[in-house]
Amino acid sequence: MSFIVFNGELSKRDTITVDIEDRGYQFGDGIYEVVRVYNGCLFTWKEHVERLYASAEKIRMTIPYTMEEMKVMMDKLIEKNQLIEGTIYLQLTRGIAPRNHAFPGSDVQAVLVAYTRLGERPVKLMEEGVDALIIEDKRWLHCDIKSLNLLGNVLAHQEALDAGCYEAILHRDGVITEGSHTNVSIVSDGTVYTHPANNLILNGISRRVMLKACESQSIPFKEEAFTVDQLMRADEVFITSTTLEITPVRRINGQPAGVEGQYPVIRQLQESFTAAIETECGSLR
Ligand code: PDD
Repeated sequence: MSFIVFNGELSKRDTITVDIEDRGYQFGDGIYEVVRVYNGCLFTWKEHVERLYASAEKIRMTIPYTMEEMKVMMDKLIEKNQLIEGTIYLQLTRGIAPRNHAFPGSDVQAVLVAYTRLGERPVKLMEEGVDALIIEDKRWLHCDIKSLNLLGNVLAHQEALDAGCYEAILHRDGVITEGSHTNVSIVSDGTVYTHPANNLILNGISRRVMLKACESQSIPFKEEAFTVDQLMRADEVFITSTTLEITPVRRINGQPAGVEGQYPVIRQLQESFTAAIETECGSLR
């Protein structure tokens, strides 16, 4: 994993340094994506790269590469690092300029960094589930942007970890939005509910794969917000993300979420998720 992409070039990781006046470093002024690699193949790349460009537009940043050029760079990186199973992290910051809240001039180019990380599917977590803690969502109102500004997410996640949980489930005025680094869904009376893709959540790519799975499996679903109360009374609760795919939530605030170990709809959705991976990236053995 010793190569990275830096400004359009493959470079040895230890030859690259971050400029202290990089706006990502000083303001969190940038955007990112985490893309899963299975069998050396970038799963749902199109969706990720389109979301990256959408995030760039929302923060008025110009990406100095085409989507095709980005794909070529990421494929080269995977090949160079011989990555079979893991993730690519890629980020773009608004560039390097003397510290000033105002955007720099158009001569300042966005800085692209991408690196790979080894990682297997979290099979045990997907099988057994994780525990979660409900926390107030204190983040800003542009959670649809995959921004580098993750302090609200970091604080919520750490609060959950400190309470012995794996994930924070966030709510605004009693309405569940999402997790600190995942989307949250419930199953109630056979219907899957998940928060609508508006400014209060990140429209997760795994969330979208999951909703497509509902469609193909004829599982009723509603992109409709649900309350803390509905969450606590749900038959099944699960989180979705690039790295966790579809993972059951076992306990919330120490209370069982649904019936522990009984995840019939989740199991169906997990199977479809695996099938979607295999269709795009080949057999997972
Ligand atoms: N997290 N919501 C938030 C706040 C997230 O940070 C993420 C992803 C998701 C799920 O999105 P997706 O299915 O596209 O991964 C939802 C990534 C993995 C991270 O920051 O590491």
